[in-house]
Amino acid sequence: MCYKNTGNGERIIMSEHVKVLFSEEEVDRVIEEQARKISKDYEGRQVHLVCVLKGGVFFMCELAKRITVPVTMDFMALSSYGDGTTSSGYITMKKELDESIQGRDVLIVEDIVDSGRTLKYLVEELSRRNPASLRLCTLLDKPDRRVVDIKADYTCFEIPDVFVVGYGLDYAQKYRNLPYIGIVEMEETKVE
Ligand code: PRP
Repeated sequence: MCYKNTGNGERIIMSEHVKVLFSEEEVDRVIEEQARKISKDYEGRQVHLVCVLKGGVFFMCELAKRITVPVTMDFMALSSYGDGTTSSGYITMKKELDESIQGRDVLIVEDIVDSGRTLKYLVEELSRRNPASLRLCTLLDKPDRRVVDIKADYTCFEIPDVFVVGYGLDYAQKYRNLPYIGIVEMEETKVE
């Protein structure tokens, strides 16, 4: 919560409010559907999930719990430099994977594909390491924001260009722990 002075003696309280976009039940149901598809596609094999920190963590755990073929997992963290509001597209690795992916069936797990730069970087980087296969899975996709040509193999929800939080996604590092996906709205209340 914060205050704003209007200049005519009034003060306005600005407070954030999260409006539900996809409820916990809806998210669970769609993750279950995608996990079923993945389990079918990887039948007879072991899938190695690569989670992109931090946003992908919640989705990866929920997805992994529902996949019925053997699962292993690893984590990586990336940095994207920009002017604060837009990304320059220059991405570097902050945390390397612990294990080699050579010869493994790798499935990258992301919370959101926005410009697509992160995913493109990952595909290029991980392809060089000779995995047996490399596929992409995302909780959310914002196709309207794409600046590079990339598409996930498994997508839970396609959304318009709105700012979403919850299920791993943050606003100034807050709201990652919400068990649903929501939109942050600012509310103004006048006080004397
Ligand atoms: C977010 C998200 C993706 C990336 C997608 O990560 O988790 O990794 O941005 O954006 P892009 O398609 O435009 O590349 P962020 O850098 O916010 O880090 P976080 O997961 O730690 O919140």
